[in-house]
Amino acid sequence: MIFVVLAFEDSVHEENIVTYRRVLYNRRNSNGCAASATFFVSHLYSNYVFVNELYNRGHEVALHSMTHTNPSTYWRDATYDVIKQEFADQRVQMSHFANIPFDSITGMRVPHLQLSGDNSFRVMSDYGLKYDNSWATNAYTSPAMWPYTLDYQSTQDCLAPPCPNASIPGVWVNPIISWIDLDGYPCSTVAACYYAPDFFNETEWFQFILNNFERHYFGNRAPFGMLLLEAVLYPFPAMQRALERFLDVINNLDDVFMVTSDEVIEWVKNPVPISQYRTQACRQFIPTTCVPHQCNFSSKHGEREYDFESCNVCPRVHPWLGNPLGQ
Ligand SMILES: *[C@@H]1O[C@H](CO)[C@@H](O)[C@H](O)[C@H]1NC(C)=O
Ligand SMILES: *[C@@H]1O[C@H](CO)[C@@H](O)[C@H](O)[C@H]1NC(C)=O
Ligand SMILES: *[C@@H]1O[C@H](CO)[C@@H](O)[C@H](O)[C@H]1NC(C)=O
Repeated sequence: MIFVVLAFEDSVHEENIVTYRRVLYNRRNSNGCAASATFFVSHLYSNYVFVNELYNRGHEVALHSMTHTNPSTYWRDATYDVIKQEFADQRVQMSHFANIPFDSITGMRVPHLQLSGDNSFRVMSDYGLKYDNSWATNAYTSPAMWPYTLDYQSTQDCLAPPCPNASIPGVWVNPIISWIDLDGYPCSTVAACYYAPDFFNETEWFQFILNNFERHYFGNRAPFGMLLLEAVLYPFPAMQRALERFLDVINNLDDVFMVTSDEVIEWVKNPVPISQYRTQACRQFIPTTCVPHQCNFSSKHGEREYDFESCNVCPRVHPWLGNPLGQ
């Protein structure tokens, strides 16, 4: 058996939710359980009513920082305290404004896949986050690397230094396994593949996705990750159709399961054979409600103004670093 993890990142808002609904909703795996994706959500520009909707559709909501600051040097140089404010505080914020259980938020991805040495992993360990999904590998694509803990110092290659070099027991690395582009070069995000298919050609994209999947499926069956940006999918309907076609194929295969990043970590902790996996109960989650609150202030942060919508009472000021609840 093999897991496929679709992971989207960045803010969730009234435009990209339309794509998410069309491409992802109402999909099932062949065992009858909901097929789910993971969303690494950044706070700036997010509408929490839609974050709540994704959660209640059975998708995983994870952390992608409060500010999504550019350039990547901000993340490379981030101190423990900056990471704590960007992620540990974001978890409190996300749970509050999207009205989703705090404990359901277990994973994080740093913007630009830029780690800051041990810092983000120390924050994870201190604030009870389970896994990171920011660390890309080009060296371990075939056979592909499996998720692992930092109980021992990592031997993974480091594409965006500094990577952690300490042993930080208990925290999980869910590595990003690079895809291989049409000319044989690795790319850590689908959008970063240099020799990519024609963006207007569905057949070529479908084949490209399938080829990358098959390297895992006919290889060591390490989880196959697709790191996607809606902003890249949106302008290219052919690429979207190729993705939907691929999902239609895998959702009908008996030994392929489209699950969240958190579910992959849980399986690796407690692996069960496919016979047991197919018959066990589907993942449960606690449904929550959202009473939308339109908060009538525009953020002064970021490059453009946006309206802040919450599933909880409106904050006094726009929530930000050092004041995650906007009190
Ligand atoms: C670990 O990495 C840091 C940079 O994040 C570096 O300053 C330090 O020298 C490294 N320690 C060892 C033992 O390699
Ligand atoms: C898409 O690519 C395939 C394979 O390269 C080619 O045969 C086909 O004509 C292309 N379709 C379009 C619409 O360009
Ligand atoms: C924001 O404005 C809308 C429409 O004008 C109104 O319905 C809503 O009650 C306002 N919200 C707050 C928190 O003032």
